Amino acid sequence: MKYGFFDDIRREYVIDTPRTPLPWINYLGSEGFFTLLSNTGGGYSFYRDARLRRLTRYRYNNCPLDQEGFHLYIKDGEMVWNPGWQPTQTELDFYQCRHGLGYTVITGKKSGISVVQELFVPEKDNCLLMRVTIENTGNEGKNIMLFPYVEFCLWDAMEDGSNFQRNYSTGEVEVSGSAIYHKTEYRERRNHYAVFWANREPEGFDTSRERFIGVYGSPARPEAVFGDGCTGSIAHGWQPIAAQEFHIHLTPGKTDQLIFGLGYIENAEDEKWESPGIVNKRPALQMMERYRNSESIDRELAALKAYWNALLSHYTLRCADEKLSRMVNIWNQYQCMVTFNMSRSASYFESGMGRGMGFRDSCQDILGFVHMIPGRARERILDIAATQFPDGSAYHQYQPLTKKGNSDIGSGFNDDPLWLIAAVDAYLRETGDLKILDEAVPFDNNEQNKATLMEHLRRSFRYTASHLGPHRLPLIGRADWNDCLNLNCFSAHPGESFQTSGPSEGAVAESVFIGGMFVLYGGRYADICRSRGLSEEAEKTEECIREVREAVLRDGWDGEWFRRAYDAFGQVVGGKACSEGQIFIEPQGMCVMAGIGVESGEAAKALRSVEERLDTKYGIVLLQPAYTQYRLELGEITSYPPGYKENAGIFCHNNPWIVCAESILGHGERAYQVYRRTAPAYLEDISDIHRTEPYVYSQMIAGKDAPTFGEAKNSWLTGTAAWTFVSISQAILGIKPTLNGLKVSPCIPKNMIEYTVTRKYRGAVYLVTVQNPEGKETGVKEILVNGEAFSDGNILPVFPEGSIVNVTVTM
Ligand code: BGC
Ligand code: NOJ
Repeated sequence: MKYGFFDDIRREYVIDTPRTPLPWINYLGSEGFFTLLSNTGGGYSFYRDARLRRLTRYRYNNCPLDQEGFHLYIKDGEMVWNPGWQPTQTELDFYQCRHGLGYTVITGKKSGISVVQELFVPEKDNCLLMRVTIENTGNEGKNIMLFPYVEFCLWDAMEDGSNFQRNYSTGEVEVSGSAIYHKTEYRERRNHYAVFWANREPEGFDTSRERFIGVYGSPARPEAVFGDGCTGSIAHGWQPIAAQEFHIHLTPGKTDQLIFGLGYIENAEDEKWESPGIVNKRPALQMMERYRNSESIDRELAALKAYWNALLSHYTLRCADEKLSRMVNIWNQYQCMVTFNMSRSASYFESGMGRGMGFRDSCQDILGFVHMIPGRARERILDIAATQFPDGSAYHQYQPLTKKGNSDIGSGFNDDPLWLIAAVDAYLRETGDLKILDEAVPFDNNEQNKATLMEHLRRSFRYTASHLGPHRLPLIGRADWNDCLNLNCFSAHPGESFQTSGPSEGAVAESVFIGGMFVLYGGRYADICRSRGLSEEAEKTEECIREVREAVLRDGWDGEWFRRAYDAFGQVVGGKACSEGQIFIEPQGMCVMAGIGVESGEAAKALRSVEERLDTKYGIVLLQPAYTQYRLELGEITSYPPGYKENAGIFCHNNPWIVCAESILGHGERAYQVYRRTAPAYLEDISDIHRTEPYVYSQMIAGKDAPTFGEAKNSWLTGTAAWTFVSISQAILGIKPTLNGLKVSPCIPKNMIEYTVTRKYRGAVYLVTVQNPEGKETGVKEILVNGEAFSDGNILPVFPEGSIVNVTVTM
């Protein structure tokens, strides 16, 4: 069952009922100011950091769900309704939500009134804008009232949701003209405030939630709206809000338009006040001035469109499969931008209060993002590297606002260092900017202790090389990519973090997965050494890699697949002899991507085992058989009921590893099959089962052991976005950036007869048409560059900036 459709021309997903299986959201904003917005107008805003600079409240686990947001109430006689249906849930005559790239348009119609809400964050400003167009589509004159409403958050979302004894006394606002200023804590240590405004004077306002909603009221039935209108309240403590009241008279056919904004303003310390106790509003007034009229909104929307056109023009596909095209050209790349911006911080599943930016997460996000804005990827790489410790290990997370490592979680996740190599390697392949390696970057954010980025990479590599266990496989530490495989933690008390209890560095528990990573990204590090003329270091690096590769084949191989790990007692995890958890997906993908066992046959066997044992119609599950009991020596993975999350869920992130691995073996049919199974556009028809948005990936789909097999959770913020983009754009369609140029090596299903990829790469545009007249899965027979035979392998050289390169590839 579907709840809408893709409008590919406008690059929108169009939702035609407010009763989606879950709120289906969009992300507005791409640098400083962000808003999450659901299809019914729910959501929240923050500036840079969802925990420390939250502008509006959201109650994640609320019932009814998703009633906090950017709602408009329309009062028409005694009838009250919302164009987005929520929160009153008054039945509408027509409802539609269009989620586009950086904007959302919600339309509701009721009894001859049509209201269109257009919401977006302008490209270069710290505010959310909402243009509201109201039309009388009936035959009679209408007198309606309109009330916008937002509920402020007292900045620190964690405190806001817990420290009520203080919070209920701190709230402060100012009202001036058509604007409501939220200035809680501005009198003391903050120099920022929020402002909600309209481009016209309202007939009334409220800033106290008690007065607008009522102490025992609800957003579904605000007392002011259902009763006698706004009361002009000024909030003192309790819950500051912004609500306004407008009276609108419309003759038949007539339209009226209002513009609202929610802005974030920072003032310099010595410019905080206009007069004692009165905030300096100048920058807010300037912001309002920028968006006074409809033309300014049109201009900003056009700028946003141009921004996205430019971003998406770096990789575009033309092919016969419209679902594939819309994933590659629009939604997958869009999601890559969102994961790059948010890491795993703020979604409808991630509260924004728990985690900041993940070290491994952000490194991987770069793989799917770097081709769009390499400059931002560069900056991010340097930020991440600055949270590395001098010994090469790394803070597992850092806060986006301070960019400082998070000491609550600390370090000890032994895959982290190698992901830094992955990110830098992707950046170098995209840009060729070797100069980044010479940048001086602090360790642990300590300006007194800096080294070049190259030295950071060296320490990453050495950290793993010098932390090998009894089988000469890398020690796992608190966990590797699988945060829930906690082999050194032994957490026995409820509420304790599974990852940070126990010693961080056991001397026994080893990870075959990190072994695969070490071979893969160690190899990339060796290439980087060579590109800098460090051939001796490259050779030494390769020697270490050889040793680990042998260890993987010797003690990491189980006979039919790669083992997962050795636990703290030296017992195999992920082997045939285990009663549960016999085979895991991660090492199969990673070891084959690293090329381990490709020539000697283990790789093919491992992937066959994945197909035989882990495949389901909705994707590949993480492990089998699922764990049925909590096991102290394995940790969080066994805490989940069978089929959920890391315990045998379809953890979408590592499905594309299998796609990449299959492509190494030239299995185009299988690679494409795996790709399609989790790609959201192909799941649109089962949205009732899948439940999350059909335009973006979710972290997890319940596996076959779960009663809710096929149901997805944790949409949007997942490494799946970056990795599936790598898998489809590079592994399947075969357009791969390398240190020396753009490699073309398709690995496709036999019936894919022709496609064209337009790839902007290092300033040139490559128009690559792949022809597959004989229905092959892999192998390039001939390449023509600008009409002439290209006989120098399949890496196209770097062309001068501005060149247009016509490439025809025959398979
Ligand atoms: C989740 C993991 C996640 C981890 C982060 C766990 O509860 O299952 O997917 O990586 O938390 O700390
Ligand atoms: C989600 C986390 O964000 C990511 O870092 C981790 O690799 C996966 N879960 C698997 O546990």
